[in-house]
Amino acid sequence: MTTEALTVIDLFAGAGGLAQGFKQAKLGYQTVFAVEIDPAAARTFKQNFGCPVYDGPIEKVSDEDYPKADVIIGGPPCQGFSPLGRDRDDASRAVLNELWQQYLRAVRLVRPKAFVIENVPEFQKSAQFARLLQLMETDEDLKDYKFGYGVLNAADYGVPQNRRRGIFVAVRDVEEVPWPPEPTHGPNSSGNTPYVSLRSTIADLPDYPERTEITVDESGRQDLHIRRTPTQKSLERYRAIPPGGNRFDLRRNRPDLEPRCWAEKATGTTDVMGRLWWDRPSVTIRTEFYKPEKGRYLHPVHDRPITHREAARIQSFPDDFVFVGSKIEVARQIGNAVPPLLGQKLAQFVYDLAFASECP
Ligand SMILES: C[S@@+](CC[C@H](N)C(=O)[O-])C[C@H]1O[C@@H](n2cnc3c(N)ncnc32)[C@H](O)[C@@H]1O
Repeated sequence: MTTEALTVIDLFAGAGGLAQGFKQAKLGYQTVFAVEIDPAAARTFKQNFGCPVYDGPIEKVSDEDYPKADVIIGGPPCQGFSPLGRDRDDASRAVLNELWQQYLRAVRLVRPKAFVIENVPEFQKSAQFARLLQLMETDEDLKDYKFGYGVLNAADYGVPQNRRRGIFVAVRDVEEVPWPPEPTHGPNSSGNTPYVSLRSTIADLPDYPERTEITVDESGRQDLHIRRTPTQKSLERYRAIPPGGNRFDLRRNRPDLEPRCWAEKATGTTDVMGRLWWDRPSVTIRTEFYKPEKGRYLHPVHDRPITHREAARIQSFPDDFVFVGSKIEVARQIGNAVPPLLGQKLAQFVYDLAFASECP
């Protein structure tokens, strides 16, 4: 391992799930600058990484603000990528192009040894991605980079969650970027190591938390294991869902409690009002994981949705990571994050390709 820090810039940094992965890889990575428009997420980032954070739109970061760095990580936000070949809305395309240009502006200015882009899987089928691939071959500043990309499932890298993300890794002045990073869990791992289950991730937490607000507990740790205060009707709905069940069990067991909009939708949306399974990885945690009507977010056996702590654990955040903001803001940061453990595996992958041979 190198003794000098490997400096990292995080763009569209959120709370810093990806940056946390680079940090906990213990390979010498140190985040030196981040950009994040959401004030609560920017404060979370600052609290955990202690580096300068530009808490505004990336478009407003001036060229001089970008420090030197060995690695750039991050990904322009997910919404609105236009599928290849389909007619596109010019206004939204312009905005996205603008954010893309911003990421590439940073790459051109900083010329990092490596950069990592994370995004929704659909991005890799978009017109914007096709354009990126074209630029990687033709652009004077980008053609020194070799790259690999594909859709990775976080569960294959030890995260207790099925979460598929489009990942793109570019490294300058190497012969190739072999793809994908080798899975450590699941059927494609070399030892056929089982996926990490939800049970091993959250079963030690109290069945029904007492507090309703985020506090700091006696040990100085942030208490994110907080409950909601459901109506009697919601509670009865939760009780009607057996292990592994979903909204269709409500129809069978308590049709009187089924909302009309669900009754009218005969098929599909099978995760709605669903219970997670103890012995599988979780489904993808999104920003409103505390609302069972939005997905499979009911606890495997208790009559409540998962808590913020449970969601953070499913995302593989360590318990000592501190989130700043209201309950809704913290949930958004958790749901938007790259699981730190996936980030850690990417950090190792980049290190092996870009930096390991520099060591004595
Ligand atoms: C998918 S999240 C990033 C997650 C992060 N990589 C992590 O692992 O925690 C994308 C972030 O981009 C931020 N963002 C969106 N538009 C932005 C802009 N114009 N400038 C800076 N940040 C922006 C959003 O607020 C959001 O937090």
